[in-house]
Amino acid sequence: MKKLGRNDPCWCGSHKKYKQCHMALDDKLRLLSMRGEEIPSHAMIRNAEQIEKIRESAKINTAVLDEVSKHIHVGMTTQEIDDIVYAFTTSHGAIPAPLNYEGFPKSVCTSVNNEICHGIPSDQVILKEGDIVNVDVSTIYNGYYSDASRMFCIGKVSPEAKRLVDVTKECLYKGIETVRPFSHIGDIGAAIEAHAKANGYSVVVEFVGHGVGIDFHEDPMVPHYGVAGTGMVLVPGMTFTIEPMINQGTASLYIDRENNWTSYTSDGKLSAQWEHMLLVTEDGYEILSK
Ligand code: MF3
Ligand code: CO
Repeated sequence: MKKLGRNDPCWCGSHKKYKQCHMALDDKLRLLSMRGEEIPSHAMIRNAEQIEKIRESAKINTAVLDEVSKHIHVGMTTQEIDDIVYAFTTSHGAIPAPLNYEGFPKSVCTSVNNEICHGIPSDQVILKEGDIVNVDVSTIYNGYYSDASRMFCIGKVSPEAKRLVDVTKECLYKGIETVRPFSHIGDIGAAIEAHAKANGYSVVVEFVGHGVGIDFHEDPMVPHYGVAGTGMVLVPGMTFTIEPMINQGTASLYIDRENNWTSYTSDGKLSAQWEHMLLVTEDGYEILSK
């Protein structure tokens, strides 16, 4: 392969000259790599046009979550949440990414109480006072992907449940706040893990955040545990999720033997999750799913 010349078009598809686009970044990354740092591939770095498309997808995704939050209530089934997500998404010219994704049968994941993630909406699951439920929405718009989730407290919940929901959101933001150019992916997980443990909670390790935008689940993986200063270096133009799953009791889980999707806490205690989608900017981060 011929080395890209200074005056050739940049590999990112911006139509700018390489020297006016990603050349300086590539030079810097080459040095970091020689020092033993893990660096992102070009496929993980989006150009301005792609970022705008991903941002548009994320806007619809946020509107779907807002729509769910308007209508979620005691006595509602999780199938009704699925109906809202499907109707709202398709009426905005978008596609619910979960639907038929690797055989997933519904448009959204709804995970109640001891369900960690990938709960499948059902007309048999009725939300009752005191439940905590994660609604995980993912959208495809003009071929670009977005992904975010929130917790909802149904009616009045116990102080223990409320504390788990609140601390899990704090964990997400502690992770987010580490993100800036040339920080490490391990910084995110370390911040999340420290806050969860300081509150007596455990961190799920089997499911991680992920690159998102061009596809639903891309590299890099973003663990919610780890050691600061380790893992891949982040650079402007990367888009990925942070989506910690935090448990009241043990971190260990099992997967539903019938549907092969839903994961549950092994001890039956509560689990919570919040998810945002981020862009690494020139001076920090932008939350795309806001
Ligand atoms: N939305 C989930 C995530 O945060 C993925 C769900 S896959 C599905 O990555 F098929 F269950 F929808
Ligand atoms: Co995700």
